[in-house]
Order: sequence, then C-alpha cells, then structure tokens
Amino acid sequence: PFEEKVDSILNLMTVEEKIGQLNLPSAGQFTTGQAKNSDIAAKIEKGLVGGLFNIKSVSNIRDIQKIATEKSRLKIPLIFGLDVIHGYETTFPIPLGLSCSWDMELIKKTAQMAAQEATADGINWTFSPMVDVSRDPRWGRVSEGSGEDPYLGSEIAKAMVQGYQGNDLTQKNTLLSCVKHFALYGAPDAGRDYNTVDMSRLRMYNEYFPPYKAAVDAGVGSVMASFNEIDGVPATGNKWLLTDLLRDEWGFNGFTVSDYTGVEEMIYHGVGDLQQVSALSLNAGLDMDMVSEGFLTTLKKSLEEGKISIDVLNTAVKRILLAKYKLGLFDDPFKYCDDNRAKTEIYTKENRAFARKVSAESMVLLKNADQVLPLKKQGIIALVGPLANTAVNMAGTWSVATNQEASIPLLEGLKKVAGNNVKVIYAKGSNVDYNLEYEKRVTMFGKEIPRDEKSDKQLLNEALSIAAQADVIVAAIGESSEMSGECSSVTNLQIPQVQKDLLNALLKTGKPVVLVLFTGRPLAIVEENEKVPAILNVWFPGSEAGLAISDVLFGDVNPSGKLSATFPRNVGQIPIYYSHKNTGRPLGNKDGVFEKFKSNYIDVRNEPLYPFGFGLSYTTFEYKNLKLNSGKIKMNESLEVSVEVTNSGDYDGKEVVQLYIRDLVGSITRPVKELKGFQKIYLKKNETKTVTFKLSVEDLKFYNYNLDFVAESGEFEVFVGSNSDTNLKSEFELID
Ligand code: IFM
Repeated sequence: PFEEKVDSILNLMTVEEKIGQLNLPSAGQFTTGQAKNSDIAAKIEKGLVGGLFNIKSVSNIRDIQKIATEKSRLKIPLIFGLDVIHGYETTFPIPLGLSCSWDMELIKKTAQMAAQEATADGINWTFSPMVDVSRDPRWGRVSEGSGEDPYLGSEIAKAMVQGYQGNDLTQKNTLLSCVKHFALYGAPDAGRDYNTVDMSRLRMYNEYFPPYKAAVDAGVGSVMASFNEIDGVPATGNKWLLTDLLRDEWGFNGFTVSDYTGVEEMIYHGVGDLQQVSALSLNAGLDMDMVSEGFLTTLKKSLEEGKISIDVLNTAVKRILLAKYKLGLFDDPFKYCDDNRAKTEIYTKENRAFARKVSAESMVLLKNADQVLPLKKQGIIALVGPLANTAVNMAGTWSVATNQEASIPLLEGLKKVAGNNVKVIYAKGSNVDYNLEYEKRVTMFGKEIPRDEKSDKQLLNEALSIAAQADVIVAAIGESSEMSGECSSVTNLQIPQVQKDLLNALLKTGKPVVLVLFTGRPLAIVEENEKVPAILNVWFPGSEAGLAISDVLFGDVNPSGKLSATFPRNVGQIPIYYSHKNTGRPLGNKDGVFEKFKSNYIDVRNEPLYPFGFGLSYTTFEYKNLKLNSGKIKMNESLEVSVEVTNSGDYDGKEVVQLYIRDLVGSITRPVKELKGFQKIYLKKNETKTVTFKLSVEDLKFYNYNLDFVAESGEFEVFVGSNSDTNLKSEFELID
C-alpha cells in the first residue's frame, strides 16, 4: 500500500522537489530552534529539504515541521534525525562499555529506552548503531562500537536495531535506525580517523562485514556510508558497496545516507568536482546527501546532461518517501510532537535507575589482588584524581542529548552509596592532561581545555595529605571524555604522564590503592597492572556514573563485564586481537619466551595485557566436564556442547560463559579461535550449573576464496571458558 502512495506523490513532484527530498542539512542549533529563521527554513518552504538533524525538542521540531507541512507546495513532512547513540537524556555507558555487558536483552532495552525518550522529544531517526569492528585502539571511535569481534558485534547490532525499531515503526515510541559507518570505517591506516582503508575481500567478508549484515538482516531502515575509501573508491560513491553488496547481495531495501559532508569530501579524495561526485554517489546507490548540498546544487544539471537518469533519481526519492510513510509521518507529521510525552517520558526516575544498573554491568574488573575490592562500608576513603568530581566527563563521547552537568560524578555517588560509617575525603590530585605534542590542549571542537589554577605540585600535595589520613585510596584517573570519540586518534595509549605521577605517588604511601579507570579505548596500562592492586575499568559510565561505580566498588553489584576488545601491552602490538591466524611460524610457547625465526617481537611478548573476553568477578568460577553430544556431525546436523560452571568463591555473581571454535584445516587459513556462542549466567555461591550451547553448521561457515559462504568438512576444536585465552577444549569432526 505504501508503494502506491509513494508513486502517487512522486507523480506530482517537480525535479527540484525530488532532489529536495534527498537533501539533509544540519539544523545547526539543536536546542534553540533558530533554524526556522535561517535559510534552511526558506529551503524547506520551497520543498528543497527532505529531513533535518541536530535539532531536538518538541517545540523546535513542531515549528519546523509546520513549515514543511503548511507552507511547502506538496506538504511532505520532514524526517528528524539525531545521534542517539548510547541513550538519550538518560545516558548509558559508551557503546564499547555497553558491549562489555555481553547482555543482549539489556542492550536491546537501552535502545528501546533511548527510542522512548528521543521520540518523546520529537526525534524519529537515529544515526545508530555504530557497528564498525575495530582492532585499533589508537582510533578514537573504538569507543562508539562494540569492539573487535564480528560475532559479538553482530549480536549487538541485531539487539540495537530491534530495540530502536521494535516490530512496528508506526508506533510512537520507535525510532528508525541507521547502521553505520558502511563500511570498514574502523580500520583506518595507523588508527588515524578518516584515513585510507585497504583490506582484502576475505577479511571484509569474514571479519568486518558481519555486524553490518546482521543489522540489515534485522531490518534496519537506513545505512550511513562511511568517510573512508574501499578499494580506492570512497564508500559514499562506491557502487559495489552500496548497490551490489548492500542491496543485491544482502537484500537491503531501506535508504542510504552519506556521513556529514561525505559527498563533498570526495572532491578531496580526488575523484571529481562537486557535480561529478554527486552524480557518482547517486549512481552508486546513495540516496541522501548529509550537509554537502552536492545533490541539491548539481543533480538537476547532471540530469539535463544525461549524467544521471530520472529513474535513478526517482528510486532514491521513493526510498526516502517510503521511510516517511513507514514512520507514519504522512498520516500525522506531528506524531512525535507530544508535549505531554516530552514532560513525562524523558530522564525519568525509572530510566535513570535502569541506567545505573546498565553502567554497573558494563564495568570490567581488570585486577583485584588480595581482594582489595569490594570496599568495606566503613573507615576513611581518600578519593583522588582529576576524574573523581567531574560531571561533564561521565557521559562520554556522542551524548548530544545528555545534560552533561547533571551526570553524577564519582564523589557524589561514593558519598551516597557509602552510608554513614564511611568518611569520603577528596582531592583532585592533578589535571587530566593529554600526552600531547601540541602546546594548546584543546577539545575536538577546538575549545581550550581549562587547567586548574593550582600548580601540579600543589595538586599533588593536597592529594598526598588526604591520602595520609585514609584507610584506602580510590584513584579516579584516565581519559577525559573528549580524548576518545570522533577525530580523537592517538599514538600513545598510556595514561597521561601527570596522572601516572599522581598514581605512583599514591602507591608510595603504602596504602591500598584502587584504580578506577575512565577510558574510551583499550589503554596500555602494563605499569599500572604491575603496581596497582585493584583496577576497575568503568569506561564512561553515563548519567548515573558515580552511583554505578560505587555500587561496584562496595560490592552491592558484583562486576561481570568482559572485554570486547583486547588490551595491548603497547602501541607497537596493534592491531592485536584474539582471532588472529596462526602463521607458518607460530611461537611454540605462551610464556613470553622469545624464539628466533618465529613470529614474535624481540622487545615484547605476543600476548596482550588483557585478552578479549577477560574480566574478573569478586567471586571465582570453575569450569569442568566439557562434553560434546557427538564426536562427529553431518552437514545438516548440530552439535550440543555442555560444560559445568561452579561459583567457587564467596559472592553470588554473574559469569559470561564463552564458546570458541577453531577450524583446524581449511581451504583458506582460519583463525586460531573464533567466538561462536556466549551465555551470561547467574550463580549463587557454591552453585553449579550446566551450560549448554548448540553449534549449528551455520556457525562453522566462512567465506572461502571465491567468497562463497561454506562449511568445510574436517576437524574442529571447541573451547569453553571465561575468556578467549581458555584452554578447556574438545574436538569434533564435520563430515559430508
Ligand atoms: O552520525 C554522525 C557520524 O557518526 C559522524 N559524522 C556526523 C554524523 C551526524 O552527526
């Protein structure tokens, strides 16, 4: 039925109005609504705008929608987009942190809640999920994705799309989702944002494409093209990518959009002038032009000159109109403009309580020697560090709808959760500081980062003086929120030196020190791992940060997060990931012993600091009795893998039981381990559960040399355990 309606509108449209539907400007001020006075408003009136983004609030959006639906000739409603990435005003941990929960129901619920809040504020389209696999923590946008693994990434992509879109996009509380950045954006040369990507097709299909495909299979409504090139052609104008693969091979039937000025940037990539790159993009399968206005200003000319056809133009327009129909905007352009919802559904007590829970689930306990954690709710705690009392650093990157000032800093949370028997004393101890070559310390938007009026020495002395009074020291250090995210690539993965100095000075007091690590990326913290007894990685935990961190520190919540990205020992090991290939000269040992003429380094061992899937608990888990229901399976059969897991420690807790396979012989080389299943279980202390996985032949398939998705007969190993470094294994054979 929608198609007929779309056709009937299309028949009424002028070429200019058609091109207008493909135009997506940024409103510029997403809180003031002044866009209605700008030249954007004039364009909307002329039918030259299809949607807007970076504008929020019911009253602002209503104002703008009125222009489109009352003043433009055909009264076609606009679609309103925003980067609703990890929550809306109620903010969840950064996506990298969220992925460490390994809890798909929880993740789906975060997307649902984000959709609930965003749609209550006028938004109907989110530029999420970001599913770019990345194995390079130098790249600042690792913080926005789900880490290094295609399997985990795919599960999360699916959960997010389902969470945002629900089963019915016409519902008032569902958002149209946009998977991004298609494709391979997470693999730029040298980890430098926007840099060239060069990758084999085998790697694309087997390791980097699966999460995008999972989003498409889950019915994602739109796809954003990435900034990078693929095989020498920028993704924005890459027909193989946007049409042959996305539509013809994967069956995607929504619409595509460029990234911010992605069309125009193709000029700098060196593939043509604005008219050429705009025509190239449209012909490649790009439907909507974000910000460049290349489509708006050149497509008519290209049509007249025969460089694009009316059919290609019509197809793109239809896809945009169809999305608007699916959202129900033609029936009611103001369906997301409900003042009452805006007042009652955003940043509610219930939503914030949920965010607190989610944050705690995302934290990863990296070390806990001598059971320093959990802290007792008595005595004196010295809370020290530049990230201890800062609300604005809690939400992390791309949290555009967050009220940053309202997030709960650790100091406030610690005091609240600690109760009356604890005295919390605080000192900042140091600035955050970057490991920068530049003189000026600036945020990604060029704002200078304020430094404390006090000197480094003064700050340090204050910290030492309160540390002297304390029973235990909690050091809140790491990155500030703008140190990761877009255009925040680094070449040094260490904690900034001034903070390392602070930490070392605190350690010298001889008091137990707990490092609460804030970060948007895996960091190289070898020295800290050696010296500090307890390390809790909290990422950027979101609006309820301080409460959630304190819940974990005091043991009200037992940590259960597991890393979704490997932590390297140093920058030189990058890219480092658990599912690497064996090579022809693998090391014969895992003891960090150098072997000549084997694939290793002379200055650092091959193993990472913390492997993929790693994360401790306050309790301990034991794995035994790994069993397969058969030693052989046929191509149409599946295998049952079971293992007994016992909570052998002193606390109730959750464990992520992980299953990996290794395909021992293949027509192409296969990774030494691949995640193929996981289950998050809850065990009371002393409790044992048998966890059963079903491995199907689908799980054993991969893209072969001809890019056919096949399972090959032969021997496989199955590993089960608490992280990717597990050795508990069994074998089976896949037979024809
Ligand atoms: O969605 C984002 C994208 O991830 C990076 N460039 C800008 C877009 C819109 O804000």
